[in-house]
Amino acid sequence: MVMSMINIQQITKKYATIVALDAVTLEVRQQEFFGLLGPNGAGKTTLMNLLVGYLNPNSGTITIDGDKVTQDSLEIRKKIGFVPQSLALYDELTAQENLEVFGQMFDIPRKLLKKRIEDQLHAVELYDRRKDKVKTFSGGMKRRLNIIASLLHDPKVLLCDEPTVGVDPQSRNAIFEFLTSLNKQGKTIIYTTHYMEEAERLCSRIGIIDHGKIIALGSTDTLLEQLAYEETITIHKNPMTVKNQKGFEKFGELLEEDDYFELKPTDRFLLSKFFADLEKQGIQYSWVELHRPTLEALFLQLTGRRLRD
Ligand SMILES: Nc1ncnc2c1ncn2[C@@H]1O[C@H](COP(=O)(O)OP(=O)(O)OP(=O)(O)O)[C@@H](O)[C@H]1O
Ligand SMILES: [Mg+2]
Repeated sequence: MVMSMINIQQITKKYATIVALDAVTLEVRQQEFFGLLGPNGAGKTTLMNLLVGYLNPNSGTITIDGDKVTQDSLEIRKKIGFVPQSLALYDELTAQENLEVFGQMFDIPRKLLKKRIEDQLHAVELYDRRKDKVKTFSGGMKRRLNIIASLLHDPKVLLCDEPTVGVDPQSRNAIFEFLTSLNKQGKTIIYTTHYMEEAERLCSRIGIIDHGKIIALGSTDTLLEQLAYEETITIHKNPMTVKNQKGFEKFGELLEEDDYFELKPTDRFLLSKFFADLEKQGIQYSWVELHRPTLEALFLQLTGRRLRD
């Protein structure tokens, strides 16, 4: 039996007249990498704040690792590492000093804390910069430090609220790899993002939230399968591909544009035949682009709206 690590039951949270969360029920299993995807104002940060006990819900209950979440409970705080959306770092302190401050909030024995700080700095490649003030750090370095600051008490659960905002692709990749390794080591992770590709790449299961309600929930693959849209294939026009136009039409509906053809395969199982055929005709793969259905398309289908960045 897979244990449920986070159990959210019928949570409603209002700010004055705004209903930020509307009877949300959600279970996250132990060691799951769960993606919470939604546009601005969907309620992601509110849910995070409720999980850590920074906020009280109007109704509903949350349990984490068997314990009920109550406001400002230290027991709950010990189980959770929270990486907030807005950076929570002291600019005038060094990386090392920042981590010491965070570590001291959790009564970690000095020696153990020292060791963990060192290990974590290495893990995100900031060890060489540990004596530099945070104000000299790039956006990506700050984000990485923000993440490890939440891990010093070795929590079972990690909540990451848009941890890659303002991060260049290289740092983003480093963050992905780091989070993936934490998950493999056993941490349960909830990761909020606006970005489809991030959720697709990282998460085994995804919940899409909009206007305070979970509007879709399932494994990443299952959600993609729900899409009515088929894969589409773009074939760039050149003498070879134009000559083979009839050949492409065997595989589905072919639309002709000025610079390319757009193929909608009638059957996705034909795709392997399609690619085998390309090779036979001497058509290079680089002239052909396969577009998988994205979560962006799913979101559009579910809400009639685009997901904004
Ligand atoms: N402290 C607050 N007081 C009043 N309204 C708030 C407060 N915090 C959030 N809200 C409102 O609650 C709703 C949900 O906000 P929340 O910050 O949880 O969304 P989000 O999904 O995290 O958005 P973003 O992607 O922009 O971070 C929004 O309508 C927001 O304006
Ligand atoms: Mg937010």
